Amino acid sequence: MGMRGKLVAGNWKMHGNLVENKALLDALSARLSVLEGASCAVCVPYPYLFQVQSALQGGKIAWGAQNLSQHEKGAFTGEVSASMLLDFGCKYAIVGHSERRALFGDDDATVAAKFVAAQKAGLTPILCVGETLEEREGNITEQVVARQLDAVMSVVGVDGLKNSVLAYEPVWAIGTGKTASPEQAQAVHAFIRARVAVASADVANGLVIQYGGSVKASNAAHLFSMPDIDGGLIGGAALSADEFVAICLASQAA
Ligand code: PGA
Repeated sequence: MGMRGKLVAGNWKMHGNLVENKALLDALSARLSVLEGASCAVCVPYPYLFQVQSALQGGKIAWGAQNLSQHEKGAFTGEVSASMLLDFGCKYAIVGHSERRALFGDDDATVAAKFVAAQKAGLTPILCVGETLEEREGNITEQVVARQLDAVMSVVGVDGLKNSVLAYEPVWAIGTGKTASPEQAQAVHAFIRARVAVASADVANGLVIQYGGSVKASNAAHLFSMPDIDGGLIGGAALSADEFVAICLASQAA
């Protein structure tokens, strides 16, 4: 392929504190200074964006948020806008993570609106899609992923996917230790890319599609060796410097 690079992004979720973050960020900065030919990023809780910006500025690791408001500004108590994220140097914002879809009411339309808000401000949205165990067992994985993808594509058009990243995250593999096999993941990644290719082969070929769900240092290299897996979105293992560094380095070799 050669048209697209690999991207490994950490999703810290609601973890961290100033002291632990400092240790983790210092270790990542030092040990990933050798990274070449792949990209990595950390997506952190809002209150730590300033800390992360201060620690990572000028280095090889980008950063971002795990969510954002679909609104630009106004009376939206407790919300955070895309331009606020830009103020703290964010490159990425995760949208549509399954935890937000399941627990915080982010439906397809809201996810699409957040995707648009991120892009409009100049952030790169990382759009998460993925099926639950029930949906996989009901053989509707492709239907679910297609619905989630189309909800965004129908709003932004296929060209709107150019400045974005996709993350295929089977819900049953998130935080469970049950990784999708490289072949299982590859099949869905190929399905996603083919669906985008119907509208534009160029956009499809350039689209970075990460896999997420119990990626660890021990399984990353195999996953990343698959032709349509362009890196990973890493939860639990992103909280360990040893694990996250190893995963980032595996993406470089793949
Ligand atoms: P996990 O989480 O790596 O802990 O499974 C992935 C994610 O939710 O993005």
